[in-house]
Amino acid sequence: LIGELQVLQQIDSTNRLCQEAMSDRAIPGKAIVVSAEQQTAGRGRRGKAWVSPYARNMYLSVGWQVQGGAAALQGLSLAIGVAVVRALEDLGVATAQLKWPNDIVVEQQKLGGILIELTGDMAGPCSVVVGMGLNVNMPEYAQDGIDQAWTDVYQQGVKPSRAELIASVLNHVLPLLQHWEERGFAPWREAWQALDAYRDQPVNILMGDARIAGTERGVDRDGAIQIETTLGLQSFHGGEVSLRPQ
Ligand code: BTN
Repeated sequence: LIGELQVLQQIDSTNRLCQEAMSDRAIPGKAIVVSAEQQTAGRGRRGKAWVSPYARNMYLSVGWQVQGGAAALQGLSLAIGVAVVRALEDLGVATAQLKWPNDIVVEQQKLGGILIELTGDMAGPCSVVVGMGLNVNMPEYAQDGIDQAWTDVYQQGVKPSRAELIASVLNHVLPLLQHWEERGFAPWREAWQALDAYRDQPVNILMGDARIAGTERGVDRDGAIQIETTLGLQSFHGGEVSLRPQ
């Protein structure tokens, strides 16, 4: 399933390079995989930077061509979250959970994140780049740049090499991508709910400056988060929306 694999010392962003490679030479049914020891301009969701120190963490991007356009990708980032948690479980990390839409957390501390970016024609065949960052052994000097509670794989009591981590993640993510367009989110929904760190808890949904308070009630069949508010059950899709514990 891998058409091209690049393992780099340093790059601005593995997602950026993977997008460029996909628009240049994407092959249907074959992934372009990019990993790096360090990112100088790692990208997070909502325009934030992703702290990416040298030779300590995992920075991995997987590019895949999809035929059905952006609409076919609903729920993909959630399913990828489940796949990354399974990859961690295979290596003995049993504590990871998910925070909607696609943070990997341990006891509300961030262990990793997923950033999905699209290139090409959003209505027809296009490329999806799945970027995954995992904190593995975060060095002290990098910690000041992180603006939220975090943890790393080493703190979970296991010390896999980054090569083992990448291999395990690819073992789960590549088959997911291969079958995504025929199967979609449905086979992943239950697994996602079982890993949901905030199920039935009071949360706020942030949309720009707006804030909606309610109780988190899991995800619907498209992967939208369902919040029970005073106005009833409301669904929110990913994009620029995020969830915070109250
Ligand atoms: C988030 O904000 O939670 C998403 C973080 C995604 C970071 C990864 S690291 C590999 C890939 N390349 C990037 O520039 N970002 C993603």
